Amino acid sequence: MSEPYDLVVVGAGPGGYVAAIRAAQLGMKVACVEKMPALGGTCLNIGCIPSKALLDSSEFYHLAKERFGKHGITFGKLGLDLKAMLARKNDVVKGLTDGVRFLFKKNKIEPVQGTARIASPDSVEVATPQGPRMLSARHILLATGSVPIELPFLPFNGKTIVDSTGALAFEKVPEHLVVVGAGYIGLELGSVWKRLGSKVTVIEFLPRIVPIADHEAGDMLKKFLTKQGLEFHLETKVTGADVAGDRVTVHAEKKDGGKLDVACDRVLVAVGRRAYSDGLGLDKIGIAVDPRTGKVGVDKHYRTSVPTISAIGDLIDGPMLAHKAEDEGVAFAELLAGKAGHVDYATIPSVIYTAPELASVGLTEQQAIEQGLSYKVGKFPFLANGRAKALDETEGFVKILADKTTDRLLGMHILGPRASDMIAEAVAVMEFGGSAEDVARTCHAHPSLPEAVREAALAVDGRAIHI
Ligand code: NAI
Repeated sequence: MSEPYDLVVVGAGPGGYVAAIRAAQLGMKVACVEKMPALGGTCLNIGCIPSKALLDSSEFYHLAKERFGKHGITFGKLGLDLKAMLARKNDVVKGLTDGVRFLFKKNKIEPVQGTARIASPDSVEVATPQGPRMLSARHILLATGSVPIELPFLPFNGKTIVDSTGALAFEKVPEHLVVVGAGYIGLELGSVWKRLGSKVTVIEFLPRIVPIADHEAGDMLKKFLTKQGLEFHLETKVTGADVAGDRVTVHAEKKDGGKLDVACDRVLVAVGRRAYSDGLGLDKIGIAVDPRTGKVGVDKHYRTSVPTISAIGDLIDGPMLAHKAEDEGVAFAELLAGKAGHVDYATIPSVIYTAPELASVGLTEQQAIEQGLSYKVGKFPFLANGRAKALDETEGFVKILADKTTDRLLGMHILGPRASDMIAEAVAVMEFGGSAEDVARTCHAHPSLPEAVREAALAVDGRAIHI
């Protein structure tokens, strides 16, 4: 075994690769083990990035088909080259994963391709294509992420019943796509294929779509998606499916006992993800894995029950989001270097990249009620925002929750165009413990979409100008 690394990271997703870079910046000798040939993990290869590439491409297609006429733009016959669209998606992914490799080189991080197993509290055995290799490590970071949950009565077959990876690469536009689960993945990929011409039926177990979102925002998003042609069956539990060649009949039960059978050609199962630590040998080393969620317990410094072994990202508690994993990666490396690494879990934004997008940070109104807080609400619709009018993107609103006594911002929910970009303002204000009044007194460029954020902050005290 060679000279020990200060840190061996297992997994090169947004948690692992960011932790590796930050640790290297802080002077540590770092190796990062990844079983896939490309770096970047689920997010870059089969998650956030390719799905956003397809969301953007399909949105352009939809705009050209349905909306350009209103702008006075006319053209000849509109065509769809799905192969080219998927190839562009793959190019976007390749550019970014190559970028991570470049960053590793720049920071002198050794990428080790292979499957890792924790051999001892200070060594990692890697099955590489060239044979086994043992890495000696002062510290080990587990950042192995998560995998889609498979329903036992609706197993993936890689062709007609697929997970999110499969739904990013259908070789033709499905005639009828049934989506099981109205969460992040179901709504995003359901939107992609709807825009490209599929009939899309979404079946959700709970009484509302994106159940974790602010109810008012989630219900309004459902209205917009229904208008776009997505069909929803809520309070309906999928119980199984019959597959016959290229056709599938999905069986489900409604809450009132009624039966639903939907015949289709493709099924996307998006009912959540499960933390992934298979094959690491954590049981042998004495690290407990929650049998239900697959998650691993850690302390405030991200240390597992074995102090030299830490874990971050989807593998530990909290939302399964790339930016949460990245922040934990940075905090972990800084704590390891004796610095004050910290993640503020109350201000982690979340975004659903539908059209319009739904971006949120902080408490939903339901959480504020559950916590017995006294709060005020300010709302402002994009219909009254000049830039939204110019863009012809007037659906949605900004909703702000502020503490009734202190005016401190408790939460913000933006359903609207580019909500993913606008939510950053709310995150920054909440990080500084700011108030609705702080946002209301901040000059916002005119005309711009974030003016709706300011107006919602003004509306907290009933003094919005443009409504
Ligand atoms: P999710 O947890 O967002 O949604 C799953 C939905 O499936 C829930 O609404 C649940 O009630 C429903 N469900 C569960 N079992 C069901 C059944 N038998 N029949 C019908 N409905 C059922 O999970 P999803 O969409 O798979 O995404 C997984 C994770 O990936 C998310 O939690 C999110 O953290 C992450 N993600 C984030 C994205 C983003 O930040 N934009 C995009 C995609 C994924």
